[in-house]
Amino acid sequence: MSHIDSAPSTPGKVKMEKSSYFFTRGGGARWHYSLAKLTVWSFAFLALILIFFLRSPAPSAITSAADPSRRSLRNYNWGGSAWEKRVRASARARSSNGLTVLVTGAAGFVGTHVSSALKRRGDGVLGIDNFNDYYDPSLKRARQALLERTGVFIVEGDINDEALLRKLFEVVPFTHVMHLAAQAGVRYAMENPGSYVHSNIAGFVNLLEVCKSVNPQPAIVWASSSSVYGLNTKVPFSEKDRTDQPASLYAATKKAGEEIAHTYNHIYGLSLTGLRFFTVYGPWGRPDMAYFFFTKDILKGKQIAIFEAANHGTVARDFTYIDDIVKGCLGALDTAEKSTGSGGKKRGPAQLRVFNLGNTSPVPVSELVSILERLLKVKAKRNIMKLPRNGDVQYTHANISYAQRELGYKPTTDLQTGLKKFVRWYLNYYSDGKKAVE
Ligand SMILES: NC(=O)c1ccc[n+]([C@@H]2O[C@H](COP(=O)([O-])OP(=O)(O)OC[C@H]3O[C@@H](n4cnc5c(N)ncnc54)[C@H](O)[C@@H]3O)[C@@H](O)[C@H]2O)c1
Ligand SMILES: *[C@@H]1O[C@H](CO)[C@@H](O)[C@H](O)[C@H]1NC(C)=O
Repeated sequence: MSHIDSAPSTPGKVKMEKSSYFFTRGGGARWHYSLAKLTVWSFAFLALILIFFLRSPAPSAITSAADPSRRSLRNYNWGGSAWEKRVRASARARSSNGLTVLVTGAAGFVGTHVSSALKRRGDGVLGIDNFNDYYDPSLKRARQALLERTGVFIVEGDINDEALLRKLFEVVPFTHVMHLAAQAGVRYAMENPGSYVHSNIAGFVNLLEVCKSVNPQPAIVWASSSSVYGLNTKVPFSEKDRTDQPASLYAATKKAGEEIAHTYNHIYGLSLTGLRFFTVYGPWGRPDMAYFFFTKDILKGKQIAIFEAANHGTVARDFTYIDDIVKGCLGALDTAEKSTGSGGKKRGPAQLRVFNLGNTSPVPVSELVSILERLLKVKAKRNIMKLPRNGDVQYTHANISYAQRELGYKPTTDLQTGLKKFVRWYLNYYSDGKKAVE
């Protein structure tokens, strides 16, 4: 624990080394104090994660007791010349100045939309996804089929599989990595904590290890989360606000990711951009999210639980439409500078950024339900409940002025408009009776 004790003496140094967005003018003693505190918390937190991680001999061992089939790295079929040909074809850009992007979590909600947008504008795209069953894998398969029609191949594999990642970089010299693979969800972390460590910590480190060692190193854009703001009550959330009070293990692993990104940028010269998404919704969305299962339950006539905070406090979210998020992701890829390292060595300072990607207009969850009622023409059976203290926070609101300035990010879809598109997709997707809504 001695490294924690020594932390307060380092803020000056940290301030110089971190890129400027984190720390703005107007320092003073209070600023230094909070900076020291932040450093202490970050260290304590990383140490905890490390202990958890080191106690298990291999990533698969962490979770094998809970679900052996899901995270085994050996079950996937990859390799061979036909496979390599598919990989190359998918990753080939239409124009000579197009990007060549490896998209992790490509069968996921955001990954599918980002992959298809990149492909549409002429970039080369290769996906990777392990198709785990955290939510209905048939939805992931349907997204995969959608991408296949646009010419995007998704390699079936785990980001913890080092040999596979090395092979992919051997076959294709990716200029960019869009890293979206993760164990998402806030409440599931109490059920299966190991899956968060496996994908969000171990998987991310494995990916960065491979990225730092290849030549040329790619630039990396990856998904953090608004959940890093945790118990922070100062709104709107700005990138320089404190993020040392996560309210869930999910948030903690995303925060750890931001610190790990700092490390790989600092030591190896990897260009790294973290995007803090705020409650993304839309067609092909995630069944574990409220707007999605509210829709399902309202249609079934089932009661839905609507949370309120203490003293009837409003629970609200800065719901962000998927197309706006996609524009933010593309903006981040397009403005990402090259990594500076080679042969596993840093050659000079590299870009390190973190951006909020939100909508900047929080909507109470009760209003979300009212919009759904109007769109579905069905009255919801509302069950008002107290917000449990198991991960969810009361309120999220993004300050997006930094992303606006640097990425040209400007969300244009309000919740009513976006939900209309979601509901249209939902009714269409689940109407043919073949896809069971469990
Ligand atoms: N949707 C949101 O509201 C939201 C908000 C904040 C942050 N995020 C982050 O954005 C990213 C994308 O989220 P999403 O909503 O599309 O989630 P998603 O679950 O739909 O997509 C993630 C995909 O990654 C895959 N995956 C998980 N672990 C993997 C592993 N070890 N190896 C290979 N593939 C793996 C999953 O199979 C899934 O298809 C995630 O990092 C998530 O944490 C999402
Ligand atoms: C939003 O963030 C910017 C920095 O990117 C800051 O200058 C501004 O004061 C913030 N606005 C609010 C309302 O917090």
